[in-house]
Amino acid sequence: MVDLEAEIQRLKKERNAILLAHYYQDSEIQDVADFIGDSLQLAQAAAKTQADVICFAGVHFMAETAKILNPGRTVVLPDLEAGCSLASGCPADRFAAWIARHPGAVVVSYINCTAEVKALSDYIVTSSNAEKIVRSIPEDRTVLFAPDKNLGAYLQKQTGRTMELWQGSCIVHETFSVRKLIGLKERHPGALVIAHPECEEPVLAMADYIGSTTALLRYAASSPAREFLVVTEPGILHQMEKAAPDKTFIPAPPDANCACNECPFMKKNTLEKVYLALRDLTPRIEMPSELMARARRPIERMLALS
Ligand code: 13P
Ligand code: SF4
Repeated sequence: MVDLEAEIQRLKKERNAILLAHYYQDSEIQDVADFIGDSLQLAQAAAKTQADVICFAGVHFMAETAKILNPGRTVVLPDLEAGCSLASGCPADRFAAWIARHPGAVVVSYINCTAEVKALSDYIVTSSNAEKIVRSIPEDRTVLFAPDKNLGAYLQKQTGRTMELWQGSCIVHETFSVRKLIGLKERHPGALVIAHPECEEPVLAMADYIGSTTALLRYAASSPAREFLVVTEPGILHQMEKAAPDKTFIPAPPDANCACNECPFMKKNTLEKVYLALRDLTPRIEMPSELMARARRPIERMLALS
């Protein structure tokens, strides 16, 4: 039997590889990663790495972003089918047609989109810098925001700005139900509700704090409260429990009796697939260099503003 953890550590050295992991990955993957973060931090880590190989334990658009920022490095994604409902719900041809119907508009895209959509955008944003970047756009310009209508609606509320919204959503964050959250609140009256802005508005209206995964983690660790109802993918609980072992973190349940608050795409990656990706240096992320050059501009604009 292969000792997967030990082999992953050995292969990382042998390949001069860095293992980046998102908080929604299985805890055993997080525990062998060199860096764990939210979408922005992972893009920043990818932008500054000197490793020859980036093994990206996350989803396809994240690994693509890492490759766009590192065309000369090898980027592997443990499972190529680790997609995202936001990215797949915004095909580039329909997106281009939407932009064409709004000449002169500024196109702001959430990082959860394909490289082709990034290449058609003026700015890329993540949940941790979207508000700041939208505020930096002159008031007299029309803003198109894609592909997450829930994050878009949240940004409209925060900035007071009207934007045209692409009607996409995250299948995980849309699963949280107000009804079940109210029930949980009744049983845990002292608990704070902390939520990701990909949730729908009625869920966000119940939140004591809204932020990216890293922002939720920091808030939970520093808040004097002892109990939290966590309304995002439950993979984040691993780092919350490590950062504040004396506090209680309760994952918000989905509406149905299913495990659909877990991201099925993130969970495609397993420790074994991470090991195989490092051993065989596949599956690799490859794109035409012309596409990467166009997609890099709005990502670099985001990194400069972050
Ligand atoms: P952040 O990591 O930016 O909080 O986004 C969460 C998410 O859904 C990633 O796909
Ligand atoms: Fe996409 Fe939602 Fe999964 Fe994040 S949690 S990767 S937004 S489907």
